[in-house]
Amino acid sequence: MQEVFVLDTPVVRGFVAGVRTAIAGASSPEAACEAIEPRFAELLADPDWLPRDYLVPAPESGMGGGIGQWLLYRSGDGSLSLFSLVVPSGSETPIHDHLAWGLVGLYRGTQEEEIYARPNEALELVERRSLGTGDFYALIPSRDDIHRVRTTSAETSVSIHLLTNDTGCVWRHVYDPASGEARAFRSGYVNVACDDEIGRR
Ligand SMILES: [Fe+2]
Repeated sequence: MQEVFVLDTPVVRGFVAGVRTAIAGASSPEAACEAIEPRFAELLADPDWLPRDYLVPAPESGMGGGIGQWLLYRSGDGSLSLFSLVVPSGSETPIHDHLAWGLVGLYRGTQEEEIYARPNEALELVERRSLGTGDFYALIPSRDDIHRVRTTSAETSVSIHLLTNDTGCVWRHVYDPASGEARAFRSGYVNVACDDEIGRR
């Protein structure tokens, strides 16, 4: 797999270079996230770096509900991806996991997020939080890997994800809200195909 800057701009290249340096110098995922946070906050505050193409919903998407997952950057070894997740007003994701740590932040709109634990196959709601534009958090499995997000604003919400896998192409899980049963799930990206040889679990 080739490293790909789908959105090939100085801002994205500079951001990814900074992320790589931060990860290389960090002793843990938590420390890496902390080191990346200032750059990530800058990205969320910059109104100009993300073209309109990556801010629109996708009627036929892997997540359902018109939710668009747009790849912006992916490393050659599948250890890093940057993408936008576009959730129309009133839509929500299935309950899902990511199987990787990283940072997630809101670029447009507002969301409600529910975080789940799954101690004995059953899902337990552990936290519900509201996110406004510019808010972000570190996502560290297994602490908070399972969640569901819903757009609460009248406008479509857009969140920016920096995760340490090829999130759209790895096989991960969605969960049945009532039984907690896990089902294999691959969301894909709206704009870039997955290589079927990679990420299959
Ligand atoms: Fe998620």
